[in-house]
Amino acid sequence: MTLGATYFDDAYARSGDPWGFRTRWYERRKRALTLASLPRERYRRGFEPGCSIGALTRMLAARCDSLVAWEGAETAVVRAQEHLRGAEHVHLAQGRIPQDWPSGDFDLVVLSELLYYFDGTDLDAVLSRTVSALRPGATLLAVHWRHEVVEHVRTGDDVHAALGSLPGLVRVVGHVETDFVLDVFEAPGPGGARSVAQREGLA
Ligand SMILES: C[S@@+](CC[C@H](N)C(=O)[O-])C[C@H]1O[C@@H](n2cnc3c(N)ncnc32)[C@H](O)[C@@H]1O
Repeated sequence: MTLGATYFDDAYARSGDPWGFRTRWYERRKRALTLASLPRERYRRGFEPGCSIGALTRMLAARCDSLVAWEGAETAVVRAQEHLRGAEHVHLAQGRIPQDWPSGDFDLVVLSELLYYFDGTDLDAVLSRTVSALRPGATLLAVHWRHEVVEHVRTGDDVHAALGSLPGLVRVVGHVETDFVLDVFEAPGPGGARSVAQREGLA
């Protein structure tokens, strides 16, 4: 079964920042690696589901003309709104994927510490809706914890194996360390996937 809303509502009732996104060096370092792994300097329209209290959202917002950030837990949405006050191009809302899904397409989707909560049916739905929402040449970034967690339906490695088997996407960045795995994929676009240096005429 997909981990239900109550688990997250309880976590946010107990703590303002249940995973220490704002305080832990581990989280700040991982965010820096996440941002540094995005192949493009700018994105036109990004989507970050499960955005929690907005720590990663704020950094993604600096790279996107428009950013749709959704979160299942109402308390976290309120905290994210406070954290992102004044960022008019960030469209924060409460929404539980895959049942809820934003309209339109994106040139960036970020799935950070989210997919291991889904059972097989919901994971398939999230992946298929994600792939359908990618514009040609779009970036899909996923990053997940690798250690076992009782509440997680699957491991981060299982999640990334599923991502790696999606047809059509090309892996352009792969980063694995003891604690987490980070992959960046590119959707098929005109001229095929090109590296950052190739796009800048350096290679
Ligand atoms: C571990 S936190 C990750 C937060 C953020 N993505 C990051 O990496 O900094 C997972 C978040 O996803 C939210 N979440 C879990 N299941 C969800 C779903 N089905 N739809 C939307 N948000 C969900 C939780 O409420 C929680 O805030």
